[in-house]
Amino acid sequence: MEKKDLDWSNLGFGYVKTDKRYVSNFKNGAWDEGALTDDADIVLNECAGVFQYAQTVFEGLKAYTTEDGHIVTFRPDLNASRLADSARRLEMPVFPEERFVDAVQKVVEANAAYVPPYGSGATLYIRPYMMGTNPVIGVKPADEYQFRMFCTPVGPYFKGGAKPITIRVSDYDRAAPCGTGNIKAGLNYAMSLHAIVTAHADGFDENMYLDPKTRTKVEETGGANFIFVTKDNKLVTPKSDSILPSITRRSLVYVAEHYLGMKVEHREVYFDEVKDFAEAGLCGTAAVISPIGKIVDHGKEILIPSGMEEMGPVTKKLYDTLTGIQMGRIEAPEGWIKRI
Ligand code: PLP
Ligand code: COI
Repeated sequence: MEKKDLDWSNLGFGYVKTDKRYVSNFKNGAWDEGALTDDADIVLNECAGVFQYAQTVFEGLKAYTTEDGHIVTFRPDLNASRLADSARRLEMPVFPEERFVDAVQKVVEANAAYVPPYGSGATLYIRPYMMGTNPVIGVKPADEYQFRMFCTPVGPYFKGGAKPITIRVSDYDRAAPCGTGNIKAGLNYAMSLHAIVTAHADGFDENMYLDPKTRTKVEETGGANFIFVTKDNKLVTPKSDSILPSITRRSLVYVAEHYLGMKVEHREVYFDEVKDFAEAGLCGTAAVISPIGKIVDHGKEILIPSGMEEMGPVTKKLYDTLTGIQMGRIEAPEGWIKRI
């Protein structure tokens, strides 16, 4: 198969229109059979539920070219079940999980020419999402929905790739206690836009959100979970009911324990502890693992000992093992890799 003529190694994290996307509609209590389409545009009624009351949820996963030239996806079943959790929380119908995984197969296969080559540093980002489509004016769930899935080739989420980033503690919250922080709803990201724009304007790469109730515990960023490494080589990941259960983080916990022989603590992490960690990073599908060099709390700087030049040694081991599994260089745990 002939690849598209793209400058793979210089792609940013942006949208490139690819050939095919998948669409299925929910009406009268049932999903239709769904199909691939060429049409990248959506035409909806002006009063559609998604426009009025933000009834939309989404997912993000990637397809990779392996060292031996296959195309694979990473744990799509977990994205299917998280989308189902998100849908239930916003009173939307669940798109059947096995059909989700099948749609991933179809979309990647149909756009195989856009899957970046092995070694290019780029990957194919897949964006499944669902929205309320029929007119809704009283505050209530829609009756009709559309599920869609498109893909776009992407490069690193942060410019500079694996260079450590600088983040700041945000004065804004992205989630409320007992709110929607633990699901992947568009509304959570709308909440974070002002905070990210102002953080960028002030010279920071991202925000660290603290727990909305007490502002003493580390939550996550606008688009990734945190990982920390202690001076005695333990992996620590924050536990909270108002953060997204990152598939990358859950995978790294397994990798740390079973591949690297590390101890792992998944627990509440107080902001006061952060100054004592040896390494820090963000993890997520888009972020992969992005090392953190500096955290700024209202002008007070915390310099992470691993520094501003490169990833710390343990972060690097985690990164190499995770991406090695994704790109077929390292044997994957049973069921993690789905070949297209
Ligand atoms: N937290 C937020 C708010 C996110 O948007 C994401 C991205 O999906 C993550 C964490 C990381 O989750 P995952 O590793 O499943 O991509
Ligand atoms: C992902 O990592 O898939 C996300 O959805 C994060 C988003 C900020 C791009």
